[in-house]
Amino acid sequence: MIEVVNLHKSFGPKTVLSGVSLKIPDGKTICIIGKSGCGKSVLIKHLVGLLDPDSGYVEVDGKIIHKLNQIDLFELRMKMGFVFQGSALFDSYTVFENVVLSMYEHGIRDMDYLEAEAKRVIASVGLLPDPDDVTVENFEREWKILREKKPSDLSGGMRKRVGVARALVGSPKYIFYDEPTTGLDPVTSEQIDNLIADLAQKLNVTSIVITHDMFSVFRIADYVAMLNNGSMQFQGTPDELKKSNDESILEFMDRYSTCKL
Ligand SMILES: Nc1ncnc2c1ncn2[C@@H]1O[C@H](COP(=O)(O)OP(=O)(O)O)[C@@H](O)[C@H]1O
Ligand SMILES: [Mg+2]
Repeated sequence: MIEVVNLHKSFGPKTVLSGVSLKIPDGKTICIIGKSGCGKSVLIKHLVGLLDPDSGYVEVDGKIIHKLNQIDLFELRMKMGFVFQGSALFDSYTVFENVVLSMYEHGIRDMDYLEAEAKRVIASVGLLPDPDDVTVENFEREWKILREKKPSDLSGGMRKRVGVARALVGSPKYIFYDEPTTGLDPVTSEQIDNLIADLAQKLNVTSIVITHDMFSVFRIADYVAMLNNGSMQFQGTPDELKKSNDESILEFMDRYSTCKL
């Protein structure tokens, strides 16, 4: 379980987080919403230990992140997968290289293992046919073609799937998605939402999804937390969010539910 307790963070004179508290139960999907620039990415970076708080703390599975030494932080990070804003794939690398890069950098050089793990995660994001539906030869042929492709050969939705596949390497317990549907058309956005929901169910992971896409929220969230002016203005279920009478929540929902239609 992840617990954020009274988190404060400023950059120079600019205060971004001024007392954020949040509990993220295991096995659920939580959407963190809020206006552009309100600090969602800054918050998520604290959850994975990329930023240290000025005060307050983030506890993951009983461990306070900013107090961990490098080795313990590394171990904790093995339980976390991160889907970056944009797809953040390396343009000059193939699909295979993009997916296995972090394993390779961590010293895993067993090519059979890298190949099997890449194939597993790429298949689980729906980029390969279901092995039950095709012959082994056809599955392998599809894989051989896809594995050599560069990000520029792929559609936006496929690139996003490769980004998700990369996060699934090592079977993490927590998956963080930073604006997974931003920049995608509505149909592709819905497909990515379905993927997030499917993975949450199949892998029983905890998904933390940063978004300002209200369609996504109502499709995938078990819980919603809304960040505003440095703290959590709302925490609850999507149904509770819908029933809110708070003016700024209504305004936010109105704006981000219609902007893509
Ligand atoms: N490393 C940094 N140094 C200085 N300012 C930062 C840094 N990271 C984020 N900020 C500022 O913090 C605010 C929140 O940013 P961010 O978390 O990226 O917003 P969003 O909610 O859109 O993800 C912005 O004003 C941004 O300029
Ligand atoms: Mg952001």
